[in-house]
Amino acid sequence: MQDRFVSGKVIEMTHFNGGCFAVKVQAPIPPFFAGQFSKLGLMIDDKLISRAYSFISHPDDNFQEFYLVEVEDGLLSPRLKALEVGDEVFLYKNANGLITHQRLPEAKNLWFWVTGTGVGLALSLLKDPVIRNKYQDFVVLHGVTDSSKIHYQQELRELGDNVHYYPVVSREPQSSLLQGRITHFYQGLEAQIPQPLRPEHSHIILCGNPAMITDANTLLGEHGFRKHRMREPGHITMERYW
Ligand SMILES: Cc1cc2nc3c(=O)[nH]c(=O)nc-3n(C[C@H](O)[C@H](O)[C@H](O)COP(=O)(O)OP(=O)(O)OC[C@H]3O[C@@H](n4cnc5c(N)ncnc54)[C@H](O)[C@@H]3O)c2cc1C
Ligand SMILES: NC(=O)c1ccc[n+]([C@@H]2O[C@H](COP(=O)([O-])OP(=O)(O)OC[C@H]3O[C@@H](n4cnc5c(N)ncnc54)[C@H](OP(=O)(O)O)[C@@H]3O)[C@@H](O)[C@H]2O)c1
Repeated sequence: MQDRFVSGKVIEMTHFNGGCFAVKVQAPIPPFFAGQFSKLGLMIDDKLISRAYSFISHPDDNFQEFYLVEVEDGLLSPRLKALEVGDEVFLYKNANGLITHQRLPEAKNLWFWVTGTGVGLALSLLKDPVIRNKYQDFVVLHGVTDSSKIHYQQELRELGDNVHYYPVVSREPQSSLLQGRITHFYQGLEAQIPQPLRPEHSHIILCGNPAMITDANTLLGEHGFRKHRMREPGHITMERYW
């Protein structure tokens, strides 16, 4: 197992509110595509323990960056959160993941329904010029429990006028942000968005909490969306984080 990993060094740690953090690493890995993920690993009791994480850095950057949340009682994420600059971390040699510009189908607009750190996948794809040229408009619905878990809002908004980012909070009743779960906003934002979510001209990426992905598939299926496969093009692409 260990020969499939390379040793890297932590070059920066960024700690956000809500138990979230970003790890910036330098490791000699082969090129990857925006939207892919790698595995980060640490030696725990003489065993290499690893988990998958989406790249948020651009493939051309001379470092690799990941956006994480500390899962309380999790085996690896609390240890990754405790890393310091200069520490060793292992990175899987070959990136994985099929949500890349080559595999995403043509459409007029690209939607994202993401929860928690799943927003990292949207960030990575939206920073990719090939993706940005492929679609006219981009809508990101980002479901979080509360606003302490919203961290890349400015970066997403600064990408351009055709990137529409909407954080949605489910457990913060006093907030002025959209309230509820992202799945409650199907067709609920049409007045604000130039191109609505429709199977005829939209592709949608679901990422994060598996319960959201199951519910979203059911809801979207009722509106004529179906799973995208290379051999049978559709409208939904998804990545479950657990
Ligand atoms: C393809 C892929 C990409 C991923 N990318 C990311 C990423 O970019 N950032 C990230 O933070 N995580 C990501 N994950 C999840 C990550 O791999 C780990 O599962 C997570 O860090 C927990 O590991 P752990 O060892 O601390 O917890 P474990 O001891 O393995 O416990 C796992 C439990 O933690 C919970 N859990 C796992 N991930 C999350 C999460 N993100 N938010 C809330 N609860 C969670 C679930 O209940 C799960 O059953 C990704 C997973 C996959 C499969
Ligand atoms: N270290 C720290 O300081 C700290 C602090 C807080 C949390 N944490 C950790 O952070 C991790 C992430 O927790 P989280 O609660 O933010 O992640 P989460 O459980 O994935 O929830 C994120 C969002 O997804 C929504 N969601 C869940 N199921 C859904 C469904 N079926 N359809 C649509 N939306 C759905 C949630 O709504 P609902 O709210 O309605 O379920 C919430 O808005 C946890 O493991 C926790 O241990 C760490």
